[in-house]
Amino acid sequence: MTMIEFREVSKRFGKVEALKNASFEIPENTVTAFLGPNGAGKTTSMKLIMGFLKPSKGAVLVWGEEPWRNESIRSRIGYLPEKPVYPMDLTVEDFLSHLAGLRRLGRADVERVSRLVGLEKLMDRKIRSLSRGYLQRVGIAQSLLGEPELLILDEPTANLDPAARREILDVLKVLHKELKVSMIISSHIIPELQELSNYAIFIDKGTVLDYGYLNDLWRKYSVETVFTIEATDIETVAKQLIEKPFVHAIKRVSSGTLEVSIDPSHFKVFEALLTEINHKIRRYEFKTANLGDLYEKIVKSKP
Ligand SMILES: Nc1ncnc2c1ncn2[C@@H]1O[C@H](COP(=O)(O)OP(=O)(O)OP(=O)(O)O)[C@@H](O)[C@H]1O
Ligand SMILES: [Mg+2]
Repeated sequence: MTMIEFREVSKRFGKVEALKNASFEIPENTVTAFLGPNGAGKTTSMKLIMGFLKPSKGAVLVWGEEPWRNESIRSRIGYLPEKPVYPMDLTVEDFLSHLAGLRRLGRADVERVSRLVGLEKLMDRKIRSLSRGYLQRVGIAQSLLGEPELLILDEPTANLDPAARREILDVLKVLHKELKVSMIISSHIIPELQELSNYAIFIDKGTVLDYGYLNDLWRKYSVETVFTIEATDIETVAKQLIEKPFVHAIKRVSSGTLEVSIDPSHFKVFEALLTEINHKIRRYEFKTANLGDLYEKIVKSKP
C-alpha cells in the first residue's frame, strides 16, 4: 500500500522554488534514503509530509490524507528535525518525560525509547553535557515517543564525527530490526544509507530524478552488485557459482570469504541459488558500495 504520495508538488518560498512539480510514491514497510545535494528540497519535502508546510501546487498525501489539513496524521509520525533545539539545562529524563506528558504518554514510553537508543545510563545527565552523538540519540528518542508508524529523520548523521556517525547508523539499524517501523532518512552522504535502506528517492534542485526500490534501481541503471559470502567450503561454492552466466566475477577475499559480482537483473535467481546451496554457506550479505554509482548514473542520465 502507498504510504506517501507527492502529486506534482511545487513549493515556493518567494522567488525560490524549492520543489518543482515533484511526483513520487513511498510504499509501506520501506526504509527510504532521501538523497540529494544541499538545497535539493529534502527538508522542504519532509516538512510537507509533516504538514508544517502547505504545497503551493499539487497534493501531498500521507496514508491518503493531506497532512496540512489533517493534523492527526502528525501523531503517527516521529520526526527528527534538521536543526533540533533542546532545553540544555534539563536532564535527558526531564526532557523526555516532559514531551511524553504533553502527549499523555506514561513513564513506560520514556523508558522504552531511552532503552531503544541506548540512553538509559545517561538519564540524569544534563542535555548540555552530552556529546553530539548522544544529543542525536536524544533526538531519535523523542521521535520514537508514542510508537510512530513512520520515522522521518532529517540528516541524522550531520555534523557527527565518523565514529558517532557509525553509532547512529547502528542505532537506526537496530530500531528498524526491532520495531519494523518505516523510515525516511535524508542525507547528502550517499553511501552511508546503503546498508539501511531498501528504497530511494533522488532529488536535485527541487526536481525528482528517480525513485523506487533499490533492487529495481540497480537493475534499471545496470549497477554492478556485489555479495559477500562466507562459506565452510568456499572452493565448492565458488565452482558452483562461476558456472552460472549471471555471475560475472568471484574474488576470494579470505580463507572463508568470497566476493561475488552478479548481473543485477538476476538478483532473485541468485538468491534462490544461495538458498539451494544454503548448507555450505555460513552467511551472505549484499555488499555493493555503490549507491553513489547509482546516484552518478541517475544524475547523468538526465538532460
Ligand atoms: N523558509 C524558507 N524561505 C526561503 N527559502 C527557503 C525556505 N526553506 C527552504 N528554502 C529554500 O528552498 C531550497 C530547498 O531547501 P531545503 O532545505 O528543502 O533543501 P535540502 O535538500 O534540505 O538541503 P540541505 O542538504 O542543505 O539541508 C533552498 O534553496 C532553500 O534555500
Ligand atoms: Mg535539509
